[in-house]
Amino acid sequence: MQQVIALVNHKGGVGKTTSAVNIAACWGEFGKRVLVIDLDPQGSASLSFGIADDGTILLNALQRTTALPVVSTKARGVDIVPAGRGLAEARQRFVGDIGSEILMQCLRYTEGNWDFVIIDCPPSFGILTMNALKASAHAVIPVEPNYLAFQGLGQMVLAINTYRSKNPALAAVRAIIPCRAQMRRLIYEKFLDKMEELLPGGVAPTVRENVSLAEAPGTGLPVVLSYPHSNGAYDYRRVAQWLLERLP
Ligand SMILES: Nc1ncnc2c1ncn2[C@@H]1O[C@H](COP(=O)(O)OP(=O)(O)OP(=O)(O)O)[C@@H](O)[C@H]1O
Ligand SMILES: [Mg+2]
Repeated sequence: MQQVIALVNHKGGVGKTTSAVNIAACWGEFGKRVLVIDLDPQGSASLSFGIADDGTILLNALQRTTALPVVSTKARGVDIVPAGRGLAEARQRFVGDIGSEILMQCLRYTEGNWDFVIIDCPPSFGILTMNALKASAHAVIPVEPNYLAFQGLGQMVLAINTYRSKNPALAAVRAIIPCRAQMRRLIYEKFLDKMEELLPGGVAPTVRENVSLAEAPGTGLPVVLSYPHSNGAYDYRRVAQWLLERLP
């Protein structure tokens, strides 16, 4: 059975998409088969694979509860369900408990022999993220190592755990990925200790702030393909390996 993982954080620009795209590409390099679901109307994961999409095909599939539209990418072993602006309509059209189980059902109808499904969530705790959490067994939280991000992180872990106490089918928080880290800053060490207190054993290897990660989306390829010898590629290979060992 494939493992489904949601990359969530209601805070924007922390590295959700960069992590989704690059962990998928690394697992592909390791010989795994991966489906990325772009569940963000910004379509950033799609664009990072060089795919521009308006999101209406995915929106229609969700509305009709049919199989998801899957296309292949240039990264070995990686397919994607692309998204774009049109997906924003989902926020008006899907509501409540039933509206948050649509992705889970669509995924059941989607045929493919993937080892992993990675869902890239938008920066909010709205209906799309709820759909991702219901469709996933695991929630992974990319976070920037700074004070305000840490405050938000505590709230988010609490919120997911509270939802989960009412609905045990919801994803459990398995890992935190420190992203965009400036390792020489004093706050970095403090932050890591706090993370470890919040989720013992669940803090992934750190992803440093690295220019190749900022530039890779413009090439339409994940960093492990566009800049395979960069620090960004090195860091995400470590995270991807660590997650393989961490996920039950
Ligand atoms: N480690 C890093 N080093 C340098 N740039 C990075 C790094 N991680 C992400 N970026 C860049 O920072 C920006 C935000 O990253 P990303 O899109 O992954 O965040 P996000 O959490 O998905 O954002 P959103 O909430 O808007 O979906 C992007 O331009 C990305 O290329
Ligand atoms: Mg994103």
